[in-house]
Amino acid sequence: MTSQEIIQKYDSSPENLLSILHDLQDANQNHYLTEKDLQTAAVYLRLPISFVQGVATFYTMFSLTPRGNYIIRVCESPPCHLLGSTTVAQELMKLLGIQFGETTGDKMFTLEMSSCLGVCGVAPAMMINDEVYGNLTPQRIREILEEKRRGA
Ligand code: FES
Repeated sequence: MTSQEIIQKYDSSPENLLSILHDLQDANQNHYLTEKDLQTAAVYLRLPISFVQGVATFYTMFSLTPRGNYIIRVCESPPCHLLGSTTVAQELMKLLGIQFGETTGDKMFTLEMSSCLGVCGVAPAMMINDEVYGNLTPQRIREILEEKRRGA
């Protein structure tokens, strides 16, 4: 589906900006918004491009740079923090060889921090794309990354 086709599912109303940006980003195989996406949305909604760029940079769920196939978001809100999100973050950085905000050289994984994922009962937690993983331990993290590398 082209950017135009995605956008035209919505009315040309500024209140649809976030939904449009979400759909455009989801449709991109590298999970990010291109400059052309932002311009297309701005023209369609008759908004200044600077406003659309501002929205896209304000929300952490949007990226303006290419990301990996698997976007790993580690919850850093207090309940997860208390139950070990620092250990989770350190293990992921060690296993992937990247810092938060970076993508592995093979373009497979991107590491990001997130606020509460809404699953505090299984803290510490992370999401990989749309899937939630809780009760994380270093051992479980290794298994999950191996599953993803095998394409599971
Ligand atoms: S605080 Fe981590 S999921 Fe809610």
